[in-house]
Amino acid sequence: MINFDKVINRKNTNCIKWDIDKEDVIPMWVADMDFEAPEPIVEILKKKIEHKVYGYGLIPKEYYEAEIEWWEKKFIYKIEKEWISPTIGVIPAISAVIQSFSNAGDNIILLSPVYSHFIEIIENNDRNVIYSELEYEDKYEINYVDFEKKIIQNEVKIFILCNPHNPIGQIWSKEELEKLVKICERNEVLILSDEIHRDIVYSPYKHIPLISLGEEAQGISITFTAPSKTFNLAGLKVANIITVNENLKKIIDKKLLANEINQPNIFGIEALIKAYTECDAWLNELLDYLKNNIDFTLDYINKNIPQIKVLAPEATYLMWFDCQNVKMSSKSLAKYLLKKYKLRVNYGDIYGQGGEGYIRFNIACPKETLIKSLELFKIAIENIENEE
Ligand SMILES: Cc1ncc(COP(=O)(O)O)c(C=O)c1O
Repeated sequence: MINFDKVINRKNTNCIKWDIDKEDVIPMWVADMDFEAPEPIVEILKKKIEHKVYGYGLIPKEYYEAEIEWWEKKFIYKIEKEWISPTIGVIPAISAVIQSFSNAGDNIILLSPVYSHFIEIIENNDRNVIYSELEYEDKYEINYVDFEKKIIQNEVKIFILCNPHNPIGQIWSKEELEKLVKICERNEVLILSDEIHRDIVYSPYKHIPLISLGEEAQGISITFTAPSKTFNLAGLKVANIITVNENLKKIIDKKLLANEINQPNIFGIEALIKAYTECDAWLNELLDYLKNNIDFTLDYINKNIPQIKVLAPEATYLMWFDCQNVKMSSKSLAKYLLKKYKLRVNYGDIYGQGGEGYIRFNIACPKETLIKSLELFKIAIENIENEE
């Protein structure tokens, strides 16, 4: 049994989650976990460190085999070695792909609210964000009419799909993905499918890789994967781009080479191999622990903080709190939580249209930390009236 209850002091380790604040703040924001990485990964990294020579790396065949094996085992789908382009991270890779397949001033569409870095890299590359806002009733739904209308009106070139979707914690079904592919196909829109959260999915839900839909999807899409969210390795800088379409792949590989981002970090290479070949049992235990934290949070909030509505995530360790009954903007609420209660969360408007009124809460931490954070949140919401 892995002891996910173990509280690890991450303060003063130069980690963004805990060290961004000088004083003691409980960080429930950025998407990394307060858990140790699986033992086989730690062991191989120790061995690499002990070697004491940290020169340029080479990607061995075991690296490709590990990614292929994981797809087969987890998603019952066989990918080819020739489709894989190793790289240093999903966001740098998406940025490079944006540069390859669009020009400054072009329009890129997102289903919002969505992961804030998509918005940032689009804007930092001088492209424009077009939002098609998801509609919420009991769960979030895609408005296909709006999505296609915005594509046509704005001559959209690229769609970045978050599959599973951060911050709302939903997976996309086969039918939903098929409809999106049809619309993109008939309007010549390239789909970038970010599948970094593919492994953090709770039973009975299942992640569906976009390329598993078949030839049509394969022809117009590029997929991004990484072991970083799943095994808590974000600092190791390793990810893969999977491209079935040979013509697209050639262009991507040239761009990766031009920017010298075609070599993952030497420690990342070793970690990916171990993660995808020896850490399946660890992942199963992790999912149980996370699910327990999610259920605990749902129960706690429903019983103690009736002003807040919480969605039960199907995927990811990120929870999306509906704070629209709180008479404060989500940005002010986040500032208030940080300043008065030493609790850091992400406020909704950074996730684009549809984000206002919500906050994102990362529950990937030991239960003790989770309980402390929820207790602080409860008192903060109770006392909010006095703030007005
Ligand atoms: C949807 C999504 N894509 C990408 C990333 C970051 O990827 P990387 O660290 O490999 O750039 C995150 C991190 O939270 C994410 O949620």
